[in-house]
Amino acid sequence: MIQTVRGTRDLLPEDMPLWHRVEEVAREAFRRYGFREIRTPIFEKTELFARGVGESTDIVHKEMYTFVDRARADSEGESLTLRPENTASVVRAYLQHKMFADKSPGELTRLYYIGPMFRRERPQAGRYRQFYQIGVEVMGSSDDPAIEAEVIEMLSWLLQELKITNTTLLINSVGEPASRASYVETLREALKAQLDKLCADCHHRYETNPLRVFDCKVASCQAVIADLPTITDSLDDASRAHFEQFKAHLDARGLAYTVNPRMVRGLDYYTRTAFEIVGHDGLGAQNTLIGGGRYDGLSETLGGPPTKGFGFAFGLDRMVMALPEAEAQRLRANDAPDVFLVFLGDAARQHTFQVARDLRAAGVSVALEFEDRKMKKAMTAAAKSRARYALIIGDNEVSSGQYGLKNLATGEQESLSLGDIIAKFK
Ligand code: HAM
Repeated sequence: MIQTVRGTRDLLPEDMPLWHRVEEVAREAFRRYGFREIRTPIFEKTELFARGVGESTDIVHKEMYTFVDRARADSEGESLTLRPENTASVVRAYLQHKMFADKSPGELTRLYYIGPMFRRERPQAGRYRQFYQIGVEVMGSSDDPAIEAEVIEMLSWLLQELKITNTTLLINSVGEPASRASYVETLREALKAQLDKLCADCHHRYETNPLRVFDCKVASCQAVIADLPTITDSLDDASRAHFEQFKAHLDARGLAYTVNPRMVRGLDYYTRTAFEIVGHDGLGAQNTLIGGGRYDGLSETLGGPPTKGFGFAFGLDRMVMALPEAEAQRLRANDAPDVFLVFLGDAARQHTFQVARDLRAAGVSVALEFEDRKMKKAMTAAAKSRARYALIIGDNEVSSGQYGLKNLATGEQESLSLGDIIAKFK
């Protein structure tokens, strides 16, 4: 039998109400905060991610699904990649469609996206090779730290609405590229003496971009990382002031945070503010729910005009895992049909099709099976459908127009006309 590819999975009907809930709350948050949806292609030119996310990152260096497209008479086989993240694509779209044109100073473009991403990571609980992200990007000429605090305030509302309460906001500043260059040299010096303690990947990172050593999860490397000089200690003055203002904005909104000077995030485009929201329940080792930050300069890297940017993405897979059990149960129970139609005999069967049509036209969710069954078997089928009510239709009901509506949880039954039944479900 053919099975799913390693690191991918089917999302089954019993889990979909949880996914829909997270999507619905996210869309509502975005509506309230003035974000509009964008959908970009699932594959792009490889160069977009190589330049945007950065050659030295794990994502580009080891995790991309890259393939050469078939050559055709009108095109050479070009290198394409399944998107490992969506910030580079959204900035590409922002530039391609000239969303920056005709802007008044300070005017912002607020976009959000929902969709699958692909990374060839080692699969484990909460880490997949096809996973789903919901994210936002705010772009324009302003880099006001109030934007960052407002986005985090929106996330705090979203988590609260989903009843995910036990989370920690981690923040850091990774400074400006110019001040980072001298820090990276300091870091390389510090690492040089410790090279024998680092893994093979970190040797590569040491050569290409020592900052990426902080992304390493290997325990022996973690011990080295704990003693390295941090980027926060060598911030330029402007980034330091920006970080102080960002914290003041969080304080003013009553949003609690922890500064983590070793959190540099695994993508090269970040400047200044970086943040993560970590969950503590139901997640295991892959407990980073949300990651984001500022990426002023990404537009320029992709050949666009100077643009400021800030955004985040959360893993939908992980957000679903973090939903409290009581909430998950409630959502699954709500996903049941309103009513299961039970008919007894052939004449009632024909009539039942009409009743089903009328109920559905009135917006009622109807479950129905076509087998003619005895009462007991039919009621078993009704229970299995998880419907809240069973509507019983026999010859008497057909002639009187009064139907037995049975509450399947309490067993109570009442006799009602179709109009009354519709009114009850409204
Ligand atoms: P990221 O930290 O690479 O950031 O991913 C964001 C979130 O996606 C993670 O915190 C996690 O919840 C989820 N995620 C990542 N990889 C996997 C995986 N293999 N399986 C399951 N979930 C995963 C970005 O992608 C940036 N584009 C975020 C951003 C937007 N920064 C600015 N704007």
